[in-house]
Amino acid sequence: MRAIGVFDSGYGGLTILKSITSVLPSYDFIYLGDNARAPYGTRSFETVYQYTWQAVQKLFAEGCPLVILACNTASAKALRTIQQKNLPQQYSNRRVLGVIRPTAEVIGNMTRSNTVGIMATKGTVASESYLLEIDKFYPQVKVLQQACPLFVPLIEQQEHLSPGMDYFLEKYSHQLMQQSDQIDTVLLACTHYPLIENSLKSHFPENVKIVSQGDIVAKSLVDYLKRHPEIDEQCTRNGKRRYFTTDDVESFDAAASLFYGESIQAEHIHLT
Ligand code: DGL
Repeated sequence: MRAIGVFDSGYGGLTILKSITSVLPSYDFIYLGDNARAPYGTRSFETVYQYTWQAVQKLFAEGCPLVILACNTASAKALRTIQQKNLPQQYSNRRVLGVIRPTAEVIGNMTRSNTVGIMATKGTVASESYLLEIDKFYPQVKVLQQACPLFVPLIEQQEHLSPGMDYFLEKYSHQLMQQSDQIDTVLLACTHYPLIENSLKSHFPENVKIVSQGDIVAKSLVDYLKRHPEIDEQCTRNGKRRYFTTDDVESFDAAASLFYGESIQAEHIHLT
């Protein structure tokens, strides 16, 4: 099996995998969640890079010709080094793509006020990757960022529908809107956040559009495969799915169905 690899620090990338498999159902996919070392959002650049590169190499060893970093933190902190240094040196026929660039390519078309808010992990915000990437495509668009460090742990603990969550939804949305009342588009730049998209809506003014990345990334991948037949023809198409986690399999299966919307049977994998 030469599947498309989809990597995340934990469960969040399953929201991206869901969108991808709905537009590319016949392709084979391997999902890898590094749950044992999640969350990545507060970790250093070097640590996120090392963990991500270990995971990518494992997916290559499983036969993946193409790996999607379905994690904003990994895309922000590891993708550039992997693409510019590791691949040319060691895996010149494999490809690794992230989620930031495809999102940056389209987000400017969604705002009328030319003012976009970003909600993300501390690591993604500190990397300023969205500021840089959006500026390349839409220099006229102003981008305001808000780190939301409590969202991922609360979602991972399945507390995102509890009343306590409201405090943080209000706090972070208020802090973002305080930066500019012109914001009319808020990008959920973390793969966990689609689970709170509906809850977040009521904390923003009605004219503010909340955007999740799954469909954007899926559309961009379809387009990429069309433009790169040399990669596309390497990917096998038997509709198979495999799921790996670096942590406990039973816990993964239980929580993963929340993110993926169907039951999953994961296999344990060790990353070094
Ligand atoms: N999946 C990560 C992201 O999209 C969030 C989880 C983490 O902090 O590891 O940024």
